[in-house]
Amino acid sequence: MKTRPYLSDVSLKPSAQAHAGRFPFSLPVVRALGHLALHPQVTFFAGENGSGKSTLLEAIAVAMGFNAEGGSRNFRFATRESHSSLHEHLRLARGITLFRGNSFYVLDEPEAALSPQRQLAMLSRLHDLVQDGSQFLIATHSPILMAYPHALIYECGAQGIRKVAYEDTEHYRVMHDFIANPQRMLKVLLEP
Ligand SMILES: Nc1ncnc2c1ncn2[C@@H]1O[C@H](COP(=O)(O)OP(=O)(O)OP(=O)(O)O)[C@@H](O)[C@H]1O
Ligand SMILES: [Mg+2]
Repeated sequence: MKTRPYLSDVSLKPSAQAHAGRFPFSLPVVRALGHLALHPQVTFFAGENGSGKSTLLEAIAVAMGFNAEGGSRNFRFATRESHSSLHEHLRLARGITLFRGNSFYVLDEPEAALSPQRQLAMLSRLHDLVQDGSQFLIATHSPILMAYPHALIYECGAQGIRKVAYEDTEHYRVMHDFIANPQRMLKVLLEP
């Protein structure tokens, strides 16, 4: 498997400091970005609703030259009508120039509307593309997708952004505990 990344890390330019305290720089995930190393194959962004995954991914995509309004590079921004100015303050460290056949993908919750079986099928497709040398950045809530082994998982939250093992993600633990014993969790949730 090829291991050379197209995009190797993302960090904030010093220019971001002038905007500290204002959205999106006020988000812990942006404030604590540091030098965010990306996996040469797949980097997942997990974490609670509203933690800033889409904001960050959209900014990276725009800084990479993707069309924010959902045009030429098959990237669609589903969360809001316009992206923030964060992309202007991101420094992107690029690895190699993509060679023929390889692609750089930015996916925001690709599991939306996919059945668990389709998510499993997506893992196979993801693996095919990774083996062909493509690199992915994926925001997801899916414990199925984030099980992909050739990957790095970042969990976004109130503390910022941190690297986590698959089994330590909140998504995995909640789903695992629920499936293992639905009655126990329902009892906690539904009883007064
Ligand atoms: N234009 C904006 N101005 C101010 N706040 C915003 C704006 N757009 C988004 N936000 C806020 O920024 C936070 C991060 O939003 P974002 O959509 O990036 O989260 P997310 O991690 O992708 O969430 P989800 O898992 O629900 O997709 C949220 O609290 C959101 O309400
Ligand atoms: Mg989102």
